[in-house]
Amino acid sequence: MKRLQVFEYAIREIATVAEKVAKSGKRVYHLNIGDPAKYDFKTPKNFSQALADASFEGKNFYANSLGVPELRVELSNNLKQLYNIDVSADNILVTTGVSEAIFFLLAGLIENKNEILIPGPSYPLYINYAKFFDGVPVEYELDEENDWEPNTDDLRKKISNKTQAILICSPNNPTGVMYSEKMIKGIIDIAGEYNLPVLSDEIYDQIVYDKPFTCPASLSKDVPLIGLNGFSKAHLATGWRLGYMYYHDPENKLEELKEGIAKLARARISASSIAQYAALEILRNPGTHTNEMVKKLKERRDYSYDRLRKIEGITCVKPNGAFYLFPKFNFKELGEWKDDKEFAIDLLEKTGVCGVYGSGFGEYGKEHVRFTFLANKEILETVYNLLEDFIKK
Ligand SMILES: Cc1ncc(COP(=O)(O)O)c(C=O)c1O
Repeated sequence: MKRLQVFEYAIREIATVAEKVAKSGKRVYHLNIGDPAKYDFKTPKNFSQALADASFEGKNFYANSLGVPELRVELSNNLKQLYNIDVSADNILVTTGVSEAIFFLLAGLIENKNEILIPGPSYPLYINYAKFFDGVPVEYELDEENDWEPNTDDLRKKISNKTQAILICSPNNPTGVMYSEKMIKGIIDIAGEYNLPVLSDEIYDQIVYDKPFTCPASLSKDVPLIGLNGFSKAHLATGWRLGYMYYHDPENKLEELKEGIAKLARARISASSIAQYAALEILRNPGTHTNEMVKKLKERRDYSYDRLRKIEGITCVKPNGAFYLFPKFNFKELGEWKDDKEFAIDLLEKTGVCGVYGSGFGEYGKEHVRFTFLANKEILETVYNLLEDFIKK
């Protein structure tokens, strides 16, 4: 089926090569998937208990299609408390992960070669779903020379009469960079000028190292903005598949989109009921696990960055959010490899170090490889020794 040919997901594709390498008996160092729950970060006991309790207490039914009402209220309170933004519970829709929220939004915005502006390099799902809905993902440049901040001249140039929305993702996957407040405000202003909504993927909002997260909705007076977030990363619940989207829409410009997406949500029945009831516990008793995780990750970031930047032929911007490094490999200087995909596969096959080739994140990802820094220091040390030797050879 032609429609399905658009789905390319380098993050999983490289995992297939890794499986083969592992079968051959070689140890694989997984720096490819952004799943903290697969490393030494443990989901807090009270969260797991709440999930089990929800089932034992009989919450095993289909939930409300838009989300369990108490959870929507709690999420609304949470947004107020964290970012001082006013989003009423009926402007919140609970989804099966941010992944489903992206699906819903592109389903509601894109058809017939319409365009969506997305950051380049890009999280692959934005590209995949835009194409799936017969649209065109248009990447605006994140400027590596300027710490991967968006190039707003490029962004502006790429707005056309087919553009439906501008998407931002900060802290960003794959670059790990959080945009400055000034930059976010600048993009919101451009969106306002062209009467476009902003989509803001905020899944890494709580995983930040050097400065606090600025919530884009708090900077928007009248520009409509849809925020996307979830429980996967900060709350170590990737496998629960729980996320949400919220509409910041002071002038009610998104009513039609909102109604359309609600219909789609009803058709797919609901997000996991037990996960939603357990999420109430996460929001009411979050504990300190996120801070502890961020503290550990910061050390791992510093170590990884330090090792990477000392390797000749590699340059890297220091990430200040999420858990990715996106170094650039100077293949002209290194000689050996044709491109980032050939390099990443060769590295994996020869050393067991598994990163994701940058071209899997679109045009602007070429010549890069994405590595996570979720693994512990001992593993990271082995990985960077292996990488250093591999490049020297
Ligand atoms: C930027 C970004 N958005 C969305 C997702 C998907 O998250 P979820 O687990 O909530 O579907 C990811 C997962 O890695 C991501 O990096």
